[in-house]
Amino acid sequence: HIYPVLLCGGAGTRLWPLSRQSYPKQFTRLVGEESLFQAAARRTAGPGFRDPVVVTGDPFRFIVQEQLAEAGIAPAAILIEPEGRNTAPAVLAAALWLMEQDPEAAMLVSPSDHVIPDGDAFRAAVIGALPGALEGRLVTFGITPTRPETGYGYLELAAGASAQAQEPQPLRRFVEKPDAERAAAMLKAGNYLWNAGIFLFTAKAMLDAFMRHAPQMLEHGQAAVRQAQTDLAFTRLAPEPWGRLDNISIDYAIMEKASNLAVMPYPHGWSDLGGWEAVWQETGPDATGNVVSEQATAIDCRGSLLRSEAAGIELVGIGLEDMIAVAMPDAVLVARREDSQRVKDAVSALKARG
Ligand code: GDD
Ligand code: MG
Repeated sequence: HIYPVLLCGGAGTRLWPLSRQSYPKQFTRLVGEESLFQAAARRTAGPGFRDPVVVTGDPFRFIVQEQLAEAGIAPAAILIEPEGRNTAPAVLAAALWLMEQDPEAAMLVSPSDHVIPDGDAFRAAVIGALPGALEGRLVTFGITPTRPETGYGYLELAAGASAQAQEPQPLRRFVEKPDAERAAAMLKAGNYLWNAGIFLFTAKAMLDAFMRHAPQMLEHGQAAVRQAQTDLAFTRLAPEPWGRLDNISIDYAIMEKASNLAVMPYPHGWSDLGGWEAVWQETGPDATGNVVSEQATAIDCRGSLLRSEAAGIELVGIGLEDMIAVAMPDAVLVARREDSQRVKDAVSALKARG
């Protein structure tokens, strides 16, 4: 019984000005015809999968509902967090809710902002990982690293484990977001994979892990789910106990501490759209390296992304090299591609200005 648990509470500030606090990147049609959230929901639908549990914030509840309906997917539940407290509380709430419905439930924790082009290969990998999860392991999905990225978690393979295997492999440890030096060392060592941020485990195994590594959180989570209120199609987690939960990611709260970890290697294409550089990469630059949207024109440009989302606003670049230009009705971003991670600083600066 695999229940997809779709997490969609993040803000996606590195994709400003397309991604907004009120309309984060996972709900935008960033690449392709449907939103990243819809793609995530569809990727985990079909034989072997139950209806998804969505965990999100109050401002997004109707967007979630609308986009699921448009994709023809009926949620098992939409859990509403009183406030975003990162992924550990979100995963905990979903595990507790599922345990009530189905004590045998396995949960596939899926971020809603990734690009995974091959849905069939992905579903096959999840099904292949299920036996490991049913044995009580916390199964991660591992990507072959290509650069000393500091924004990801790293998975150290146990001795004898293979990064080419098609079944879950034992892990020695989980290192969340290392500094640059450690990231470079792990890349060089060769026995590490990136954590895709996608997890498969039984609700029971996750609750056991909370009992062991974060018992206080388990208690507050239980209260938040027990005292939840039903409102239309939404399940509103109780604000008072929710406010007592640590604001922490599942990676730090559980994965770094757990010893029953496994990894399912996933070699079929994965990208976290963590910034404009990744969007440029994923939307298939043409022969001159440009990605040019409707209402945009590139003249003598190379390696640049030009995108206008503003009705009636033509965006024209002349002689640009490795640049990002994004026009929205109320904001325009122009930056060097290599600086695209600094967009989040711009968002902070704008916020500070009010
Ligand atoms: N419901 C809910 N509530 N969802 C949340 C919250 C929250 O408070 N915070 C984040 N999310 C969602 C995001 O929308 C995203 O879909 C997913 O949870 C992961 O959160 P990120 O904030 O994007 O995590 P990250 O990218 O920094 O790190 C994670 O993903 C990497 C791969 O992309 C970690 O798992 C890393 O280890 C991993 O390498
Ligand atoms: Mg992310």
